[in-house]
Parts: sequence; structure tokens; C-alpha cells
Amino acid sequence: MAALDKAAENLLAAVRREMEEVTSESEGKVFRDRWMARKNGILTQVNDLWLKAAPKDTKRDVGQRVNEVKKQVEQTIADALENKQGKASASSKDADRVDITLPGIRRPLGAEHPIIKTMNEMVGVFRNLGYSVEEGPEIETDYYNFEALNFPPNHPARDTQDTLFIANQESKPLRERLLLRTHTSPVQIRTMEKMKPPVRVVCPGKVHRNDAPDATHSPIFHQIEGLAVDTNITFSDLKGTLDHAMKEMFGSSVKTRFYPSFFPFTEPSADVQISCIFCGGRGYRDGGPCRNCKASGWIELLGCGMVDPNVYGFVDYDPKKVSGFAFGMGVERIAILKYGVGDIQLFFNGDVRFLEQFA
Ligand code: PHE
Repeated sequence: MAALDKAAENLLAAVRREMEEVTSESEGKVFRDRWMARKNGILTQVNDLWLKAAPKDTKRDVGQRVNEVKKQVEQTIADALENKQGKASASSKDADRVDITLPGIRRPLGAEHPIIKTMNEMVGVFRNLGYSVEEGPEIETDYYNFEALNFPPNHPARDTQDTLFIANQESKPLRERLLLRTHTSPVQIRTMEKMKPPVRVVCPGKVHRNDAPDATHSPIFHQIEGLAVDTNITFSDLKGTLDHAMKEMFGSSVKTRFYPSFFPFTEPSADVQISCIFCGGRGYRDGGPCRNCKASGWIELLGCGMVDPNVYGFVDYDPKKVSGFAFGMGVERIAILKYGVGDIQLFFNGDVRFLEQFA
């Protein structure tokens, strides 16, 4: 402890000595940084070194002593700088005058994130068709995410959704248990509970799945859901609507193809493919097979189908009177294609060099 006191004394003496040599404001800054910079300042180093060197059973005492010394040094520096500043500003008023010939401070302009931009663009396409926008919660119940969408308990179709469940829900009945929604389809149910047909809505939002992040997967991503229910809605309405939307998004020369698929809440169901926008649907490019469509000429983009009559049973719609279609698409996937982005992670890393390309 005696050695410590001696070292502390030396330290204080050193600060005072250096302080005397400070004559200008900028020197004062350098002086303060040398001692107090958080990362490499002398005080930080002293703190680390002294504490490290202290035997285990004295750490507490040494810690207290170090804190005291730090406080004293900091106070000395603060007092000194205040004094010096007072003197300096009194003697040179001119130096404080604003130099109006200097350039101003440019504030960087913000811009819409490419995902929000893509989402707004797609929502805009459907707004122009008379659709309105609905939103729902990201923390959902089993009922809205699964049961009312015709996924019975234990049905294997639930496995395809890689669900993230909220812990400690086991004491609740299954339908009330909370989870992170795996798709925007629960907003279909919430919308139909709220309004009677005719319904035409799009539901953009964030969804969550237990996927490890890589170039094409992210545990958080975005979807846009669509739902149209009315009298006499047919599969050709679905085809016409989505064909139009894809042409609006990717250009009028793009073709669509509907491929049989399965979702519990639509029957029949389809995956929609668009003709490859990189090779123009030819399947080859620059004398070789097209990498983007694996030489098939088609790129799969979204899921859709006619609303399964069972779903109407959950929301008190009469399946004998109404029919409708639904679709769901991944926003990142669309943005990746539209802007030629090589890695989905770029959307989430917040690197301004990437983001400002979309401004
Ligand atoms: N919700 C489905 C999914 O995320 C997509 C979908 C929506 C399919 C609407 C059909 C109708 O996989």
C-alpha cells in the first residue's frame, strides 16, 4: 500500500508538471486526451496495470485507491483547463468570431431502406387495383398463425414453418400460446374477422423463422400478403392479378407461370414463377447456362391459391356465397432480384455504403 501511495503521489505531481506547460486551448485538449482518453489514456492504463498487478486479496483496496487517484487527477485537469480557457478567451475575443467564409456542415441525407422501398412499391401496385392495407401483430397466437389457417394441431404442414415459440406457454391451451408469426397469413384471418366481404387487402410486415442466416436465409424477413374475397372470384382473377403485379414490378415483358403446390389454407394452391429476368427466360446467357434460374428460364417467386372453404368456417363467412384468393410473397426475394443483390444479409447489416446506393 505504501508503494501504491508513492506511485499515486508521483502521478499527481506529473499531472501538475505537465499542466504548467500547457499554453493554448489545443494543447489543453492534447493534454486532456493524453491523460483521460477512454481507450489509451494514462488513467485507463493505470487502472488496468495497477489492478492487474495487485494480489487477489488486495484487489478491493487497490481498486478503491485507484478510483480515488483517478478522481483527483481528473479534478486537477478539469480545474486547470477551466483556468486556462478563461484566460485565453479573455485575451483573444477575435478568435471566437464565426468565420462565415467556411463551408457549412453538411448533414447526410437519409433514404428509404431498400426493403421498405420494395414493400411500398408492391403495396402501391395493389393500391392502384383498389386494395387497402392491413397490419397485424408480429407476436401471434397459435390460433391465428396456424389453427384458423387450417393447420390442425400436429399436422406435418406446421413443420415447414420453422416456428420460433415463446417460452413457458405450456400451461395455456394450444390455441392461445404465443409465437413469432412465421408468415403474414394470420392477418388474413384478423381482416376477415373485422370486415365482411367484399375484401381486398394487402398486408405487409415482418415475419420470423428459425433459419440460420446465410446468403439466402435470414431469421427475420418480410412478406406481403394479399387477400381478395367477394362473390364469384375465380382462379383466373388470381392469375390476372398476379400477372399484372409481376409485370408492374419487373417490366411488361415478364411472363408468369402457375405451378401446383400445397398450403393448408388454399385449395388449389400454386407457386408462381416469373420468366427469368436475367436471361429473358431463355435459360442460357453469355454462351453458358443462366446461373440465376439454373438454366430453367423460370424463377419461383411466391405462393398463392384459392382460399380453402375450411378457412371461411373460422371467420363466419359463408363458403357457399363467397370465394376468394390469397397470395404471399417474400419482400427480400423480390428486392434481391430487382436490384441484383448477392447476399440477403446486406439488407440487415446497416452498411451505409450498401444502403446509399438506393437513395
Ligand atoms: N403464407 C405462405 C408462406 O409463407 C404463403 C402463402 C400466402 C401461400 C397466401 C398461399 C396464400 O409460405
